[in-house]
Amino acid sequence: MRTTTPIEELDLYVWEGKADIVERVARCMASLDVEVIRADDTAISAQRIAARPSIAVVSVSVIDTGALMLRDWQATHGLPVIWVGAAPRDNDPTMYPNEYSHVLPLDFTCAELRGLISKLMIQMRAHSAQTAGADVLVAESETMRALLKEVETFADCDTSVLVHGETGVGKERIAELLHRKHSRYGTGPFVAVNCGAIPDGLFESLFFGHAKGSFTGAAVAHKGYFEQADGGTLFLDEIGDLPLYQQVKLLRVLEDGSVTRIGSATPLKVDFRLVAATNRQLPQLVKDGTFRADLYYRLAVIELIVPSLEDRGAVDKIALFKAFVSTVVGEERLESLPELPYWLADSVAAMRFAGNVRELRNLAERVGVTVRQMGAWDAQRLRRLLAGSGGAQPQAAAEPVAPVVDRSKWDMAERSRLLAALDANGWRRKDTAQYLGISRKVLWEKIRKYQIFDEEPATGESE
Ligand SMILES: Nc1ncnc2c1ncn2[C@@H]1O[C@H](COP(=O)(O)OP(=O)(O)OP(=O)(O)O)[C@@H](O)[C@H]1O
Ligand SMILES: [Mg+2]
Repeated sequence: MRTTTPIEELDLYVWEGKADIVERVARCMASLDVEVIRADDTAISAQRIAARPSIAVVSVSVIDTGALMLRDWQATHGLPVIWVGAAPRDNDPTMYPNEYSHVLPLDFTCAELRGLISKLMIQMRAHSAQTAGADVLVAESETMRALLKEVETFADCDTSVLVHGETGVGKERIAELLHRKHSRYGTGPFVAVNCGAIPDGLFESLFFGHAKGSFTGAAVAHKGYFEQADGGTLFLDEIGDLPLYQQVKLLRVLEDGSVTRIGSATPLKVDFRLVAATNRQLPQLVKDGTFRADLYYRLAVIELIVPSLEDRGAVDKIALFKAFVSTVVGEERLESLPELPYWLADSVAAMRFAGNVRELRNLAERVGVTVRQMGAWDAQRLRRLLAGSGGAQPQAAAEPVAPVVDRSKWDMAERSRLLAALDANGWRRKDTAQYLGISRKVLWEKIRKYQIFDEEPATGESE
């Protein structure tokens, strides 16, 4: 069986320590369009990494000599890392900063290496497809438009902002927007930290950084998140999950505007804008004694509430759905297909998404893959897909169904007239055309345009 390797156009940075890893990697990659670059802490160009897919292959033996340097390197470049050798001894979770870290044995075979690289490239591509649509911020509903107005109003002031909303509503997207629109901090870095995922005992080192030589292995100085965000925005996601003792430390930095690295006595000035997000009710946490009131008041100088998808209604659901489907199918290809079928738009509009935009996005992407593969809005398959889609449940029939589609956009009025006319004439097209005062050809075109037979029972009448 012939398999195609999805390895194409790739830079491999190899940091080999003591073994002959660079040579072996180069041999394995010889027939592919892969550049194997001998890497140390200086050999990596951020511009090049931004322009080409890149992966690092690092010998575990460099951990002793360059662990901290490597952390900086990963934090700065965000490179997926393939570790060669036994799993890093100290089991330090910061050595695995993202989902792309993998380990290969020291005597790896070419097949193993290529297999792992292919897998990483597929993951990286999927990730960049996910973030590719990230620039489009869909906001068709009144509630979202009102929120964007608030963002405009508050973007350019320096005070902290608390973004509140259910899971998956787009809090981070709003934080990014606040950052980009800020004239002073907007050109600086946007450093996003998930406060719910900080390993125990690593808060200080991650947030405050280390001075060089502050402990065994600290071969170089390491900047913490506060310093990394200097001149930009520090986005603290899931702030409600930050334990009390860490809240105190955060508060102190906000009050002093300075940080002191571990092992150093010199405070360093930091200037960043803080945006925090949570899906929890902080005032309740304050009452329960698990969130400091002073930190809450400091964070919530401005509070932005991102509405749930249910509160945004059908217009946003459909607009988001179309945008995500289009990202997967491709705009050009989508334009060559008929419009989004009504039954599909209506079904999506009537669904409840407990996971909000994220859940809708997952569904839309699966629909997109089906449409791309089939080259059509395959009603049978898509209906099955919708019916089986995890938590996205259609609204119960007894509940009032909100106005479903943006009628002006969808020419619903004309479609309804058409349906009424067909009904009134027993679905006989000749009579209906006469009734409407249009030719049978025009009627036929309209029926096709509005895909009426997609959902109506066959009439048995032939043209
Ligand atoms: N208005 C929008 N337009 C386009 N995409 C959006 C919009 N809002 C959210 N998304 C997408 O939905 C997904 C979830 O968004 P995001 O991570 O910002 O949500 P969140 O509220 O921070 O989630 P969590 O509660 O899990 O932290 C992302 O893929 C994001 O790009
Ligand atoms: Mg988030």
